[in-house]
Amino acid sequence: MTGFDIRTAKAADYEEFLALFGGAMMFEMQADDLGRQLFEPERALVAVDSGEIIGTTRALTRDLSVPGAVVPAAHVTAVGVRATHRRRGVMAGLISRQLRDVPEAIAVLWASEPGIYGRFGYGAAAFDVSYEVDLHRVGPPDVRMRPGELSELPVDGAAKQLAPLLRSLQERRPGVSGRSDLYWQKHLEDKPDHRDGKTARRILVHRDETGSIDGYALYRGKLNWESSGPANEVSLEELVALEPAAYRALWQHVLTMDLSAKLGYGYAALDEPVQQLVTTPTALGRRVSESLWVRVTDVARALADRRYAVPVDVVLEVTDELIPANAGRYRLTADGPTAPARCERTEDPADLGLSVTELGAVYLGGRPLAEFAATGRVTEHTPGALATAGAAFGWPILPASIEIF
Ligand SMILES: CC(C)(COP(=O)(O)OP(=O)(O)OC[C@H]1O[C@@H](n2cnc3c(N)ncnc32)[C@H](O)[C@@H]1OP(=O)(O)O)[C@@H](O)C(=O)NCCC(=O)NCCS
Repeated sequence: MTGFDIRTAKAADYEEFLALFGGAMMFEMQADDLGRQLFEPERALVAVDSGEIIGTTRALTRDLSVPGAVVPAAHVTAVGVRATHRRRGVMAGLISRQLRDVPEAIAVLWASEPGIYGRFGYGAAAFDVSYEVDLHRVGPPDVRMRPGELSELPVDGAAKQLAPLLRSLQERRPGVSGRSDLYWQKHLEDKPDHRDGKTARRILVHRDETGSIDGYALYRGKLNWESSGPANEVSLEELVALEPAAYRALWQHVLTMDLSAKLGYGYAALDEPVQQLVTTPTALGRRVSESLWVRVTDVARALADRRYAVPVDVVLEVTDELIPANAGRYRLTADGPTAPARCERTEDPADLGLSVTELGAVYLGGRPLAEFAATGRVTEHTPGALATAGAAFGWPILPASIEIF
């Protein structure tokens, strides 16, 4: 191998692109019509050596909820390098070019390993809590339900009925990715050879007194019988509820399935309300890991796009090694959570100094600036600026990404 070239992908690269990324992840990826329609070759990059693809990355065109707004965000995925070509800078070449190319003011991704993306200016902005619930110990919420309150929805036509709930969730919680019709189709796809011994997906919905759907849960079951008796496993894939009654009823239902001993759920928020509803929260079997990483590619636009919890007027000195044009001093002003913010370049002295990585980490309102000041990654030049800017960057509801893309 002498070197490699990086180029924009073509539609005809789809199969080879999938094969390369699938090989890197040790996962058999099947080409199909839906995947082809979602491919967006003009937003995918390939590294090529001697005519063969040896590295991949792509950005999906989707939106993301951020504090007080829903904005376009490059959803980066399929970062892979052929095992024989690792540690020669292929990924670094792909990611650096991608970040300079994306038109959106932020790029986001889920990292397979947390050590990879900080060097490119991504900051871990949201955390994901996985549950492995011991259903015999957890003590589910005690809910008396009306007849007809919960029912199942057939898959055909379900996306149309569930989509408005996801959009409403985006208005409330940062970190939630939007789904077009095609992404809903992908999300509800249920190929039998991907079920891993589980049942087909069930769609459970909650209706309010008027009959409107105000919550849903997607789940599957897995038969399991131990010497002590039935020990089925419930696999909760998604739970979205807009009203407390829907939230309590859906959780009560999935936590009390007959013959079941365990429930797994991969997308709880750090502030997931079910923690207050069960009698033994430790039986939720919680494990925390980073979920969404945010890379701010255009500081002025990204900071003006979100809202701020309290009024703020602060000058930030931002460093950015990979995109030098992004670095500099910016004045951020906002009048509280319902007013649009302004962010412009300035020559005024800085109140706070930080790199684009810390900016990404605090962007969704899920991590305090003070956390980074405590290790010297945020510097306070003006006394008091850390406290006021820290309060402004925070948000009343923590970010949570409910889907790996
Ligand atoms: C992770 C992967 C994409 C890295 O590709 P690569 O071409 O070997 O990476 P590069 O040579 O460009 O490495 C760039 C830097 O990242 C570091 N790095 C690479 N992989 C890393 C990992 N898994 N963890 C931590 N650091 C890593 C390198 O050491 C290098 O550091 P340096 O700049 O200090 O020298 C590749 O190994 C792969 O395909 N792995 C399996 C699939 C995967 O995990 N993809 C990520 C999906 S989110």
